[in-house]
Amino acid sequence: METVLSGIRSTGHLHLGNYFGALRNFVKIQNTYNCYFFIADLHSLTTHPHPEDFHRSVRTILAEYIAAGLDPESSTLFVQSDVPEVSELYVLLNMLAYKGELERTTSFKDKVRLAKAKARNKAVNEISYDDHDDEGININAGLLTYPVLMAADILIHRANYVPVGKDQEQHLEYARVLARRFNNMYGEEIFPEPKAFNFGNELIKVPGLDGSGKMGKSEGNGIYLYDDEKTITKKVMRALTDSGPTEPNSPMPEYINNLFTLMNLVSDPSTVEFFKEKYNDCSIRYGDMKKQLAADICKVTLPIREKIDAVYNDTDYLRKVTQMGRDKARESASATLSLAKKAVGFKVF
Ligand code: TYM
Repeated sequence: METVLSGIRSTGHLHLGNYFGALRNFVKIQNTYNCYFFIADLHSLTTHPHPEDFHRSVRTILAEYIAAGLDPESSTLFVQSDVPEVSELYVLLNMLAYKGELERTTSFKDKVRLAKAKARNKAVNEISYDDHDDEGININAGLLTYPVLMAADILIHRANYVPVGKDQEQHLEYARVLARRFNNMYGEEIFPEPKAFNFGNELIKVPGLDGSGKMGKSEGNGIYLYDDEKTITKKVMRALTDSGPTEPNSPMPEYINNLFTLMNLVSDPSTVEFFKEKYNDCSIRYGDMKKQLAADICKVTLPIREKIDAVYNDTDYLRKVTQMGRDKARESASATLSLAKKAVGFKVF
């Protein structure tokens, strides 16, 4: 059976981007493949979370995974740092990763610009990546080698498919580069080349409701699985709109298109069609559309939300799940690590 693997960073509650880009697919796929799903707590360390928040966030993601329908009996659910073999493979892969290619990674450049903008109290678009004054700004080596750790996560289980959102596409490409480089250098087919996966469809990008770009934690525009109905409605009603088109069949501005993109994910196709027609004949009332969108988001998220607290508070159950996941993940990881170390030339005296 082919292997599927994916993970989400533990940086607080999951938002609709995480859900539609990743978690929903984990749930759909869990009974079809040999699945590993984990909580990327090591990756979350790039932003230096407070030690108390660090553990709480891991627990939050685990509870939200399970509340959304991930079954610890069907797939291996584990915490990244419970599997030290990942960190060991990360060291080996770091030797094959070049500084230049890591510096050119889009996510790294974006994070650097964001960090500099925050430090200087400016808007991101006012900051250039090539501004080399990094003094006192948290641009650590972990941020630079983030894609290498991600490749280690994937390759340690010799995964074939990785369900992720569009923003991770470049990282997946890099995991393939490192797999190829390792296989070529050591002359063995140790690692299969992992492919991004969305059931044969394009990877998706869930937009934010603030006009442009994606929904994200650092963008501060998230609608969370843990939000209640009132919060969701408030967030959706605040979404940027205008007074509506004045010419039939006008091109859609990005912020309106984003509303339709979200609607496509949560609403009935006939509902989307209804509002598209209204847009095209200039009779659309964005207030009505947003009310409908909020209600349809709630239909997806509230049944998940209802379950989160009970799972989160069940310490015995969570302990059992993570121990079981850790044991299964370590078994697979140590088998791969032995192959890799043997190929590199490590020998036991
Ligand atoms: P992270 O934690 O930023 O995001 C987790 C998953 O959610 C998806 N996602 C989105 N998808 C669509 N639209 C959005 N607006 C949106 N925002 C987030 C991401 O694409 C991702 O699938 N590096 C990864 C975590 C990771 C990982 C791995 C993933 C570590 N090791 C190995 C796969 C395999 C990350 O930061 O995701």
